[in-house]
Amino acid sequence: MTQLPGLLDTEALRKDFPILDRQVHDGKKLVYLDNAATSQKPRQVLDALNEYYERYNANVHRGVHVLAEEATALYEGARDKVAEFINAPSRDEVIFTKNASESLNLVANMLGWADEPYRVDSDTEIVITEMEHHSNIVPWQLLAQRTGAKLKWFGLTDDGRLDLSNIDEVINEKTKIVSFVLVSNILGTQNPVEAIVRRAQEVGALVCIDASQAAPHMPLDVQALQADFVAFTGHKMCGPTGIGVLWGRQELLEDLPPFLGGGEMIETVSMHSSTYAPAPHKFEAGTPPVAQAVGLGAAIDYLNSIGMDKILAHEHALTEYAVKRLLEVPDLRIIGPTTAEERGAAISFTLGDIHPHDVGQVLDEQGIAVRVGHHCARPVCLRYGIPATTRASFYLYSTPTEIDALVDGLEHVRNFFG
Ligand code: ALA
Repeated sequence: MTQLPGLLDTEALRKDFPILDRQVHDGKKLVYLDNAATSQKPRQVLDALNEYYERYNANVHRGVHVLAEEATALYEGARDKVAEFINAPSRDEVIFTKNASESLNLVANMLGWADEPYRVDSDTEIVITEMEHHSNIVPWQLLAQRTGAKLKWFGLTDDGRLDLSNIDEVINEKTKIVSFVLVSNILGTQNPVEAIVRRAQEVGALVCIDASQAAPHMPLDVQALQADFVAFTGHKMCGPTGIGVLWGRQELLEDLPPFLGGGEMIETVSMHSSTYAPAPHKFEAGTPPVAQAVGLGAAIDYLNSIGMDKILAHEHALTEYAVKRLLEVPDLRIIGPTTAEERGAAISFTLGDIHPHDVGQVLDEQGIAVRVGHHCARPVCLRYGIPATTRASFYLYSTPTEIDALVDGLEHVRNFFG
């Protein structure tokens, strides 16, 4: 087996992930390289979910009985774990949502219904980038349509990075919010947060960061990022589906209005009006995803037991190796940075003029799971004049052997299509 410096002990780690032992297509060993879409779940998370339902299941914040108190303690305990994981100054700054899309929609709607000084209206501008996932494009388009605000964006360089050459023009005194991705799900690019935040702060604009492809893979410190909002999702970081996080600065969460109304988020209700609970509950209407939060807490315990620095080093070594090996494949073009620096562990590519859906299908027949398509980032494909890409993405349990299997698989694809 290929050895690279900085790799984790994957032989031991993989025992935690029962699904990685699966065989597909008549006994082919599963090679799971679709981790940017969703990660697999370790037994520790599966056990926590099971234990929650077997022993503690109840609705939270509203019962006086033992189970309700225990379920509430577990749910709020998960909030503590998230707060510590992202170095939030306060646990009350951690809002549980359904996923990162809901977190980003929540920010857009908070601002859409806000009073001055946060209000987005026809005199103001919203800034995003051309490499955003649709979840960080469409909510802002909806907000712009509703308010008359102007939507602007940073374009991309030919090598898959943000073109910030006109940053002072794009982010200006009219800008209310700049919302951008920390690590691109399609290009893998890791963006220069500091330069963007500095310019946003100069003009008094808020900053929202989509950290969906960063939180699972590297230490995340919301205070160091100096953003106002940070969104991510649980299922890409060994947690269950159905749980996302929005972190927001406390003063903002106190000032901004709720988006969804209902139970749990109120202080008092009369037939004429209502007052709201303090954050984070103000933004968590209805029965929250209790079991999912507990599962996310277990995922954070699991990641911490390995160490986010070590996970980052492992993925960096794998990405460096993967870029080198992939570039050896004739006719393969990486869409995104071709160095392992300033990039995450998702690598998109095209293979000659073979359609990515065909590439994905022939790889699947060999047991290799990748994602094909526009990866919910269609403007990136339009920018580079391609219909779609094939994307391989790695996680803490990925191995160089799996990368070798991918490269061999691509040779087979080339032979298959002549
Ligand atoms: N956003 C996920 C991906 O990039 C689904 O695949």
